[in-house]
Amino acid sequence: MKRLLDLVRRWRTPRPEFGAGTGNDEYDWRIYHEEYRARMVDLERLHTTVLRDGDYTFGDERLTLARSGLLPLHENHRLLYETVCQLNPASVLEIGCGAGDHLANIKLLAPSIQIHGRDRSENQLRFLRERHPELDGVAGVFDATMPWSNLVPTVDVCFTQAVLTHIQLGNSHFVTLANMFRAAARQVILMENWTKHSFHADITRMFAERMISWPRLFLYYRASDVPRQPHIVVASATELPYTPLLDDETLTRSVPPI
Ligand SMILES: C[S@@+](CC[C@H](N)C(=O)[O-])C[C@H]1O[C@@H](n2cnc3c(N)ncnc32)[C@H](O)[C@@H]1O
Repeated sequence: MKRLLDLVRRWRTPRPEFGAGTGNDEYDWRIYHEEYRARMVDLERLHTTVLRDGDYTFGDERLTLARSGLLPLHENHRLLYETVCQLNPASVLEIGCGAGDHLANIKLLAPSIQIHGRDRSENQLRFLRERHPELDGVAGVFDATMPWSNLVPTVDVCFTQAVLTHIQLGNSHFVTLANMFRAAARQVILMENWTKHSFHADITRMFAERMISWPRLFLYYRASDVPRQPHIVVASATELPYTPLLDDETLTRSVPPI
């Protein structure tokens, strides 16, 4: 019933005009780390979160479970790692890296990739260092809703997983996207809840208004093989053999939000 009421409310609430952001972020980031730790425990009941050598293999452009009896990765994470492996960047930057599992897993699957993470919360980064001591020095503090800082590394690929979804204050998600496109030379990858912003419309408009300085922009999505699982969006400076993303409805039509 609550889900139905939420859907009706979302349907009746007009999306904000370009640049006319509303509301607050979905969490108070000063205390979010407590909830995040609890969510990780829940996630680990059903999924493997930290990969060990040989758990998954990447071959024929697919990332597949290789160890029998192992809990599978969450499909969002599998699709993210598979997409990064396919794009084969020299370096990646995760914005909102939280406890660092995605960076650690990408490094395990593709050791040649140079990894970097940034998060606005020192408490989250403390969790990252506890969980992944090997990532010490890889991650640091940056609030991506602030203007660009030259202390942030520039990379081939910049990605988020469940971050822009929660950034709802004013125009903050536009600034975060602009920073991501500023950081990435080749691709920006987004794994987000597609109902929370008009990602296609916003990125297209930002490019048209020269807020994204790439000479060309191609928007794609990759659908999960698993029925009723979410898509991932790839914004690229060059053409890729992925399905072009033509509108926002493609992302929300048949797939439940993450
Ligand atoms: C839902 S958690 C996701 C963490 C991680 N990506 C994952 O999938 O486990 C959102 C993360 O984004 C971080 N975050 C939120 N707003 C941010 C901002 N403006 N700049 C950088 N990080 C931010 C939070 O501190 C938190 O670690």
